Amino acid sequence: MRKIKAAVLGMGFIGVSHVEAIRRIGSAQMVAVADTNYELAKSKAEQYNISKCYETVEQLLADDEIDVIHNCTPNFLHTEINKKIIEAGKHVFSEKPLAMTHEESDELLAMLKERPQIVHGVNFCYRMNPLVLDMKEKVNSGEIGKPLVVHGSYLQDWLLFDTDYNWRVEPEIGGKSRCIGDIGSHWMDCVQNITGAKITDVCADIVIAHPIRKKPTGAVETFSLNKSTDYEEKQVTTEDYAAVLIKMDNGAHGVFYVSEISAGRKCRLDFEIDCELASMYWNQETSDQMWMGYRDEYNRHVMRNPLLMDKNASDYSYLAAGHPEGWNDAMKNNVQSYYNFILEGKQIGTDDAAFATFYEGHYITLLTEAILKSGSEKRWVSVEQD
Ligand SMILES: NC(=O)c1ccc[n+]([C@@H]2O[C@H](COP(=O)([O-])OP(=O)(O)OC[C@H]3O[C@@H](n4cnc5c(N)ncnc54)[C@H](O)[C@@H]3O)[C@@H](O)[C@H]2O)c1
Repeated sequence: MRKIKAAVLGMGFIGVSHVEAIRRIGSAQMVAVADTNYELAKSKAEQYNISKCYETVEQLLADDEIDVIHNCTPNFLHTEINKKIIEAGKHVFSEKPLAMTHEESDELLAMLKERPQIVHGVNFCYRMNPLVLDMKEKVNSGEIGKPLVVHGSYLQDWLLFDTDYNWRVEPEIGGKSRCIGDIGSHWMDCVQNITGAKITDVCADIVIAHPIRKKPTGAVETFSLNKSTDYEEKQVTTEDYAAVLIKMDNGAHGVFYVSEISAGRKCRLDFEIDCELASMYWNQETSDQMWMGYRDEYNRHVMRNPLLMDKNASDYSYLAAGHPEGWNDAMKNNVQSYYNFILEGKQIGTDDAAFATFYEGHYITLLTEAILKSGSEKRWVSVEQD
């Protein structure tokens, strides 16, 4: 099988997961990593036995061997770097959120219109968990009727204390939205993908629990325990919590809430899709199980089982039932669907993609902006489409 040559830019928390996912699939080969922190890149290149190690995207672009670049840099660099990758004619797999503003993601889409051969993906990885794919098929097939109500949350606790800090807190680096853009974006992607519908209207309550945070004078890694004792006080303008009422274009209504200050909740992304004949509930912290609720029958706890799942879901479920698959597997599935798409010579816009494209990333950016607007104007806001 031909192998597509991959490079990962940004070797922090998520960059390493991209490398591991690429190494698990047959259609791709890791050839280079890069990070402005060259020592970090070098240590990861050695750890994973990757032959080439660079500092900048320009060096990756100048390397003719590389077909695909994964952009795993902080949010404010996504557009600038994605543009360079597109201009150079390489395929791009970007971290979320796709852009800081919809004007930025619009620009990316305009560039891609001129270059239909480029395959673009955004790493909304949770949608590729086998049971989430199974939920999608259950809605798609009509077997449990139409979605009526969708609800759920994404809760974390790593920014609970006012001494917790990360680049995501700063709007110039993370974007104007923190909770919604960083984790709510995953919730919205999953629910839109499962239901095949779009969120069109939002009404939000947005809260900044710590208007002042104590920023350590040294850098702090994502999800690390901060042990620093030297701080400077920083005013915070990005939200710690948000609750959002939603309306969808399939007639469903719903609500979700996101928080980075909920003690004990580490990565609790959960959602329930209540349809005309049954409800489905999934929580990524127990990702090998799903709950199904019925009005006139016993409710069921479903264990992931590739032998019993719809083919579109079982194609991404590898271990026999009882051997849990989780976050890393969803990451790998997402990367695999992206590389298979390239290998099969498919084109975005013409062929269906299982992974999220830049079009979906752009829509999530519009949604994030609509939620912020709703929170500040204290009213329902419709998502403005181009
Ligand atoms: N899909 C997911 O589930 C998921 C999970 C975590 C993070 N993310 C996203 O991944 C991105 C990175 O997050 P992280 O937590 O890994 O951050 P991080 O701070 O741990 O890592 C970012 C890395 O990028 C490097 N970097 C900064 N500027 C660079 C440049 N110009 N060129 C090359 N490298 C550069 C930094 O040195 C650092 O090593 C963010 O956009 C975040 O939203 C997605």
